[in-house]
Amino acid sequence: MHSSPGSDAARSTGKDHRYHSVMSGPPVLKSGGLLGHTRAFADDPLGMFSLLLETFPNEEVVRIRFGPFMDYAVTGAEAARQLMLGGHDHLVRPWFFNRVFKEMSGLNLFTANGEEWSWRRKMIGPAFHSAEIAGMADTMVSIAERVARNWHVGDRIDLTEEMTSLTLEVAGQALFGVDVRADDRGRRLALAFEGMIQWTNYRVERFFSEPVWAPTARAARARRAIGVVGSIAAEAVAERRAQGGEHHDLLQLLLDSRDAETGEPLGDLEVVSEAKAFFFAGHETTSSALSWAWLELARHPDIANALREELTRVLDGRSPELSDLEDLDLTRRIVEESLRLHPPAMVLTRRTHGAVEAGGYRIPRNRGILVLIYAIHRNPKYWDAPHTFDPDRFTPNRSRGRPAHAFLPFGEGPRMCVGSRFAMTEACLILATLAQRWRFEVEEPTEVKPDTRFVLKPARLSATVLGGL
Ligand code: HEM
Repeated sequence: MHSSPGSDAARSTGKDHRYHSVMSGPPVLKSGGLLGHTRAFADDPLGMFSLLLETFPNEEVVRIRFGPFMDYAVTGAEAARQLMLGGHDHLVRPWFFNRVFKEMSGLNLFTANGEEWSWRRKMIGPAFHSAEIAGMADTMVSIAERVARNWHVGDRIDLTEEMTSLTLEVAGQALFGVDVRADDRGRRLALAFEGMIQWTNYRVERFFSEPVWAPTARAARARRAIGVVGSIAAEAVAERRAQGGEHHDLLQLLLDSRDAETGEPLGDLEVVSEAKAFFFAGHETTSSALSWAWLELARHPDIANALREELTRVLDGRSPELSDLEDLDLTRRIVEESLRLHPPAMVLTRRTHGAVEAGGYRIPRNRGILVLIYAIHRNPKYWDAPHTFDPDRFTPNRSRGRPAHAFLPFGEGPRMCVGSRFAMTEACLILATLAQRWRFEVEEPTEVKPDTRFVLKPARLSATVLGGL
């Protein structure tokens, strides 16, 4: 995979954008065989991203062949900005990935395109105000505290699994009002989610696989899991409508969303579908960010010590609150640096519905685009020692002069993650709560492998729970 750069590299090095004619287009990564890079991309996407950066250090857009198709891969910050902001009207989420999310959650903010997407975004986007998120901060902390109370010195745990069940618990509470550890409905939700992830991994790993309505045992299992999440969401909506009263959670945020022009709320079925999208898009991504943060802290004891010093200075043993986040500067930078080095959403995928411009090239209509967040986050043009975990690179001093779009873990432009503030709040509060109480000894931290199937996360993070501060 990591073959040395061939003549494409020589052709691209030192080129000025004006040099490329519209006809020639961005350089193409050489590949043998009928399938092009399909196999390499599926087997080792991270290796593929590094290869592109090494081969075309001066390009922002290159081409990769997948069978008969030629996709455009974006490795530069400026080209990503141009596309996601300027080209937005000519881009849609492509069918290949979207079909799986649609099978899971139906039509919603995540899966809709064009007008169908636009009105949803106008309704739901503004509801994600700080005030709404503030109401959920206490829930995040109290769930993290409960998890922390359940651990004992010497316990052997898998931190990736623990972070997944922790963020699942926050999502279960914030979206469906259920307790995934304690009540029956919550446990059914957790099991169903597991089934949905298995189905997603199965579908995205294969170009040819049966759809969810197919008469196979695997598809039937997925249908049951999807049905369980749908019925739990519908029950939560019905109960909340019946209860009334004041609530501060993601479900209420959806119920309170209003069409800016007509003042109309979302219908019940729409709320259910959006809740499923939040559930699906939100919790595995946040748990991945936390898992990477623990791994990097294990690899860098000096940074772990500095974190504990910050927590002692700011919190002095008490639980963190939302208002503490502005003083928990290193905590936030650790989360940001984890998101840079290991972005849970490694790639943004799009299809052009009209021609767009990026990186000095014109990309015609009906082409596939991959915005390689992972590659942009490790592009040496923007980051010194790009493979090193260094939270200080996010201090104002060291951020000066760096293009803002060199860091885009939540995407960019009108389709940027609606839950980014919720996710940052959750990750920082959970990290602060747990790191105050526990330290972990991670087994062979340099050997931990990434799992690249759904979101980028550590495959396994076996650890022993050590004492507190
Ligand atoms: C660390 C955690 C998270 C990461 C890294 C992340 C990343 C992303 C990215 C990269 C996108 C853009 C996808 C694209 O343009 O194709 C996105 C979209 C989205 N995210 Fe997140 N996300 C996170 C947490 C959340 C949370 C907590 C929620 C909900 C509570 C959420 C809900 C959504 C939704 C609904 C969209 C679609 C927005 C649209 O298309 O208008 N995400 N996310």
